[in-house]
Amino acid sequence: MAIIYQEKERIFILQTLHTTYQMKADDRGALLHLYYGKKASGNLDYLLPFYDRGFSGNPADVGNDRTYSMDVLPQEYPTYGVGDYRAAALDIENGDGTECVDLRYCSHEIRKGKYALRGLPAVFADEKEAQTLSVRLKDAVSGVEVELLYGVLEREDIITRATVISNMGTNEVTVQKAASVCLDFLYGDYDLISFYGRHAMERNMQRSSIGHGAFSIGSRRGTSSHQYNPGVILADRHTTEEQGSCYGLLFVYSGNFLCEAERDQFDQTRVLMGLGSDYFQYPLKPGESFTVPETILCFSDQGLGELSRRYHDCIRNHICRGKYAHGARPLLLNSWEGAYFHFNGETIINLARESKALGVDMVVMDDGWFGKRENDRSGLGDWQANEKKLGMSLGELVRRVNEQGVRFGIWMEPEMVSEDSDLYRTHPDWALCFPGRRPVRGRNQLVLDFSREDVREAVFAQVCQVLDQGNIEYLKWDMNRSISDIASAQRLPGRVTYDYMLGVYDFLEKLTARYPDLLIEGCSGGGGRFDAGMLYYAPQIWCSDNTDAADRVLIQYGTSFFYPACTMGAHVSAVPNHQTGRKMSLKTRGIVAMAGTYGFELNPALLTDDEKEELKEQISDWRRVEPLVRDGDYYRLSNPYEETFAAWAFVSRDKERALMSVVMMKKHGNAPVAYVRMKGLLPEAEYENMEDDRVYSGSALMNGGLPLPLERGEFQGYQVELRRRRV
Ligand code: GLA
Repeated sequence: MAIIYQEKERIFILQTLHTTYQMKADDRGALLHLYYGKKASGNLDYLLPFYDRGFSGNPADVGNDRTYSMDVLPQEYPTYGVGDYRAAALDIENGDGTECVDLRYCSHEIRKGKYALRGLPAVFADEKEAQTLSVRLKDAVSGVEVELLYGVLEREDIITRATVISNMGTNEVTVQKAASVCLDFLYGDYDLISFYGRHAMERNMQRSSIGHGAFSIGSRRGTSSHQYNPGVILADRHTTEEQGSCYGLLFVYSGNFLCEAERDQFDQTRVLMGLGSDYFQYPLKPGESFTVPETILCFSDQGLGELSRRYHDCIRNHICRGKYAHGARPLLLNSWEGAYFHFNGETIINLARESKALGVDMVVMDDGWFGKRENDRSGLGDWQANEKKLGMSLGELVRRVNEQGVRFGIWMEPEMVSEDSDLYRTHPDWALCFPGRRPVRGRNQLVLDFSREDVREAVFAQVCQVLDQGNIEYLKWDMNRSISDIASAQRLPGRVTYDYMLGVYDFLEKLTARYPDLLIEGCSGGGGRFDAGMLYYAPQIWCSDNTDAADRVLIQYGTSFFYPACTMGAHVSAVPNHQTGRKMSLKTRGIVAMAGTYGFELNPALLTDDEKEELKEQISDWRRVEPLVRDGDYYRLSNPYEETFAAWAFVSRDKERALMSVVMMKKHGNAPVAYVRMKGLLPEAEYENMEDDRVYSGSALMNGGLPLPLERGEFQGYQVELRRRRV
């Protein structure tokens, strides 16, 4: 049983295969956190510290006991107004303007299966895979009720948390800040690993120690953002890739977020993940509820690599849906870097013909096919094919691409509108804008108010009208700016960012229901909305607008800490690279794209015959290793920020096959030989290198490693494909 309640002590124990989580409703009804970490048996309430601590207040109902303070005790869901001066999970403003909720345990329920959240993406799991614990807490004065939800996926070592806040009182209250999880640690020296970046350089890794004073990351951009990903790892100071303890917190949400970490006066550490207070004030009338998005928790005592593999499995099995969650994705060529806005129907048909000759499955017509759209200054919102530009109808184009033996995909940016568009001219009030002010533009465009149902319905009708034109099997859903003018004609500003995100999810839910076989690839100027929330609707996301293989190595390295390779849109593009000007061999570009979905972002007509032959071979290599990349276990074999080479590997679950990939990142004269150690093989088994037929034991490859040939130059890459040899 994954969830146990010990009635006498009022202790809740959540067990997964390798981890234990405990909490206790104490005599006052406060829900105190006891433990989260490596599996531990017995009750851990003896860990709680009770000492008289100056300037840490004591609640009235403990009488003269100065050893009981919310400022010191570890808690499940700390609030403002009860004498805890650390950052809180919940801040509520009551009808009288006071900021206080004092939550006490009321009841709980243990259910089979995993809870779902109304209107929000969340981990899904059936009754055999998961159990749910729901704990109800209540503030007696305001009538605010909080339901803490815990989903326990025993075999996956995953615990999810979400919160539902309900106003059961008689006055309106306002939610000002609401986390879905608080993790309190009584002791320990921790680092926080986070992933920062910018457009075209997302998810760089940062590891910093949590000292005294608050450290926070988050987004106020209306999207999860290029700048900070909503996933962080709390690691013991000495934790490495393979050893040591670490905790992951992954927010299943694509909008604004706040993650705070703080070491307090007694060297206790608190980490919070959820919705922050910037641009957020959510009023709840009596009877209304608010759902805080989910956070996926995971603990590993075998280093960061194991933590990542648990997240990869969770995302592949319990976040991604539809036939492509596990199925092979079409190998696609996207028209963007090959043609940008300059194409017509024949260009796309030619791309299809050339693609077919190479062995590509699908051509995606990117931006520029609709409305008045010759550049990024106009057209968004008018989702009708520009037949004059294309020289044919969309239906005819799709048919003619299909006639080449190639599938067809299309690009759209449904949340956006250009001022120079019929949609905007007819409905200027549909764009987010502060009354009386001119809106901030991003990439010359405005954001449609997706918190409004009428706006969504009108855009939905347009999107369906496009998808119904023919056999369109793929949609790249883009979102190319940060949101700024947080004001809607129909709702209070403090609701807009959250309601907007729920509007996007509602739209995507309806779209996936209507087109269950459509493959959606998420995108936001590349990886500006690369998060578990979007992956619930779109099993792959364009990882970055930067297709330079050297930069991609770093971007994909950072992305791999939470997200599996099959979710990372990665393409081979032309050289010199359009973002960096760097030239790299086709081989290296292919190897790096093969750590993701693998595809193309170039015009094949511009390739030499030799390059075409090389690509054909590369594609057939890809077909062979694709199941391994999609479904295998992922191992980081180096840290490309610190070492001279980047290396990673995929190992099949049965350990029969493996693919090791290496890219030389730095090269110096007369350099030392670099060695790379494999991971994840069976030590006793024998593995054959498919290229030179040499046989090695798994233990030799993992402990002795492989020397990297010294003659390889900077940014050269190579792969070693291993197969287990049966004797
Ligand atoms: C964004 C995407 C690109 C491309 C362009 C089109 O930048 O990330 O891949 O689709 O928009 O305008």
